[in-house]
Amino acid sequence: MTMTPAIEIAGLTKSYGEHAVLGGVDLSVPPGTVLALLGANGAGKTTAVRILSTLLKADGGRAVVNGYDVAAEPAKVRASISLTGQFAAVDEVLTGRENLVLVAQLRHLADPGAVADGLLARFALTEAGGRRVATYSGGMRRRLDIAMSLIGDPPVLFLDEPTTGLDPQARLEVWRTIRGLADGGTTVLLTTQYLDEAEHLADRIAILHQGRIIADGTLEELKRLLPPTKVEYVEKQPSLEEIFLAIVGHDGAAAQEAR
Ligand SMILES: Nc1ncnc2c1ncn2[C@@H]1O[C@H](COP(=O)(O)OP(=O)(O)O)[C@@H](O)[C@H]1O
Ligand SMILES: [Mg+2]
Repeated sequence: MTMTPAIEIAGLTKSYGEHAVLGGVDLSVPPGTVLALLGANGAGKTTAVRILSTLLKADGGRAVVNGYDVAAEPAKVRASISLTGQFAAVDEVLTGRENLVLVAQLRHLADPGAVADGLLARFALTEAGGRRVATYSGGMRRRLDIAMSLIGDPPVLFLDEPTTGLDPQARLEVWRTIRGLADGGTTVLLTTQYLDEAEHLADRIAILHQGRIIADGTLEELKRLLPPTKVEYVEKQPSLEEIFLAIVGHDGAAAQEAR
């Protein structure tokens, strides 16, 4: 790939006191792709995302986002990104539409109402738009959260554990949403502890372990790191998730939530 990376990290280090969390992280994310930063709880995923989104200063190394160095040009980085944390930033008391209008107003957009209505339609929340967020399901909240982060069309999106705590149907909805964004040209860096999330959603997967990226590539490339599998003929058993979705249905979620 010859395109300039949307995110480029080299030798990034960060310690909290004596506790070294990032010990030289190198990573490159091509524009318009989904990169999954995979790591166990406490691996340093949130720390890395906070550095990339200018909320935290690195001790050493370099990070460039959308062509801007996070340390030298933080304001330009902030104008290029949005960050959705693990805990939804939506206001429970407001309706979905009011949340969107508020953010559009804060960003000084010309027609906040039209921006809100466009995003509600795009995220299948038009019906729910007039209801208080307190009545939304987990999947609807997370979709609204992602919709809010898209106001102003940032080219780079950071999603910190976007599906943690969601049920399987809501996860699928959020996956589809993220896939659609990347297909539309947005670069997405998401963190996850779930192997299957990285496997299903990401164009590239980077594994953060003991402060470093120990593997980085497409799923096919990562599979090639393992010895070739012995071919055996066994009946494939469906996973629990497949069984659950077969019983409950893939597309029932939006209709049920709208009630
Ligand atoms: N502000 C902080 N002060 C001290 N230690 C921290 C702080 N934030 C995170 N840590 C520690 O750094 C490590 C990495 O945390 P984090 O980046 O949140 O990991 P992850 O997001 O992968 O779960 C953990 O051991 C965590 O306890
Ligand atoms: Mg985290």
